[in-house]
Amino acid sequence: MVFDIVTIFPRMIEAGLAEGVVGRARERGLIDVTVRNLRDFTADRHHVVDDVPFGGGPGMVMKPEPFFAAMAAVEGERGRPEAVVMLSPAGRRFTQADAARFAALGQVVLLCGRYEGVDERVRERWATDEVSIGDYVLSGGEVPALVIVDAVARLVPGVVGDEQSVEADSFVRGLLDYPHYTRPAEYAGKRVPDVLLSGHHAEIRRWRRQQALRRTWERRPDLLESAQLDDEEQAWLRAWTSAPATE
Ligand code: ADE
Repeated sequence: MVFDIVTIFPRMIEAGLAEGVVGRARERGLIDVTVRNLRDFTADRHHVVDDVPFGGGPGMVMKPEPFFAAMAAVEGERGRPEAVVMLSPAGRRFTQADAARFAALGQVVLLCGRYEGVDERVRERWATDEVSIGDYVLSGGEVPALVIVDAVARLVPGVVGDEQSVEADSFVRGLLDYPHYTRPAEYAGKRVPDVLLSGHHAEIRRWRRQQALRRTWERRPDLLESAQLDDEEQAWLRAWTSAPATE
């Protein structure tokens, strides 16, 4: 899996890639991340990447030329990229389905904006996708780019040690994850649910499915519209909807 990230803060990206699952995947060569400093693609002595907005208004706009030059370099090395993603709060919401799509492509270019925005011609010429990681405004696309690299890298075979753990993740099945417990069996006056100590694997699986569904129903009912539910899960939902338990 190959990532190219264009940014004015390459150290911020490198720091975010150094640790954990992504850091190890990079060391092992399972993912290849090239961080490109936008200022290296300026032609002036001061490496200026922004300018005042046409039409007036507050803040600065990132100039088109350095992005065009950076993309020409990426294309020269890799050929025409299939996915060029602009990070922006004005984009479509990034989801697990996008992560799966990018992972299947095997290559993605991420363009990080800063300041008030990026000259629109960059998006028009290069972007295949414009994505937001959520309904809040960050000071730039660097943290969102790290979010996307992490979500996509986890789907690359071998990156997460236990493939089953990726399949069990929240959202992969369209539901939130069930609650997890480890030792001790009693702590801070709270006992781990008996079923988890019972050794009955079928009962444990059933309890977890029920908990995942219950949490999704309580916290993210919007996810239930597209979740794939079996007969038993649908029956649980009907029971809760008609007589919500008072816990
Ligand atoms: N840049 C600033 N805010 C952002 C967001 N929420 N998602 C993606 N890119 C951004």
